Amino acid sequence: MASTKVTVPKVASRKVRDGSDALVMVTAYDAPGARAASEAGLDMILVGDSVAMVVLGYDDTLQVTVDDIAHHTRAVHRANPDCLIVGDLPWMSYHVSVEETVRNAAELIRAGAQCVKLEGGRKRLPMVEALIDAEIPVMGHIGLTPQSVHAMGGFKVQARQAEAAMELIEDAKALQHAGCFAIVLEGIPVKVAEAITDAIDVPTIGIGAGPHCDGQVLVYHDVLGIEDRFVPKFVRRYADLKSATIGALEQYASDVRDGSFPNDDESYHLNDEQSEAFGLYGSGGPEES
Ligand code: KIV
Repeated sequence: MASTKVTVPKVASRKVRDGSDALVMVTAYDAPGARAASEAGLDMILVGDSVAMVVLGYDDTLQVTVDDIAHHTRAVHRANPDCLIVGDLPWMSYHVSVEETVRNAAELIRAGAQCVKLEGGRKRLPMVEALIDAEIPVMGHIGLTPQSVHAMGGFKVQARQAEAAMELIEDAKALQHAGCFAIVLEGIPVKVAEAITDAIDVPTIGIGAGPHCDGQVLVYHDVLGIEDRFVPKFVRRYADLKSATIGALEQYASDVRDGSFPNDDESYHLNDEQSEAFGLYGSGGPEES
């Protein structure tokens, strides 16, 4: 029987213009999330540095380390999902030198990722080439790159000007030429994402990049409505788990406080014989006659 596991070559061949179904990727950071993504038939799991914001409580993605992403990748890997596992290289793990980049990416591969993702265009080419030379497949990520939050002056839509849009197309072509098997397009106008998708032969995966990409990615907590402090325009929520969770916890608290939890069925019992024997001793031992 053919394996149902999604692989890098399978993803690399998925262009919508060639008749493929759109790719679906979601972030996940733990085993239950990975199992849910796999059972739902999704193609890829991104162990994203967004874990910093949606799980660890930071205001940006700059706080997480290779060890953090490796820790979460191991949890995802233990669930043995059919989805391709993409390990996100965090800020400063691929900026200092080519050698450090390869060693850091190897950590994520050893933790269970099948490939890595890194942010940036042409200036990252030496790193991308070294990774591919070390047999580590690379997913690119251009447009709104959250690790550049300070350089961009905030999480802002990119390539709104024609010149910047043209630069982005050149970045995408260069990443493809260097060997990236797919490219995430984040926070760019629909027309620019469409032009990039047309210009390259590897799939584009959009987030806030409109409907003409070869696939889409969203953050797990956004899809499920676990995170509700800030909902970007491009997010569609498919559940409201935060409300459901609060409702369930309120009911639990109320049941404990009014004595209805736990009930008899939710408790363990002695059999009759032991109950009788225990009755003799249970209230402080046998009475003296
Ligand atoms: O870390 C992440 O969640 C990401 C996606 C937004 C693409 O990089």
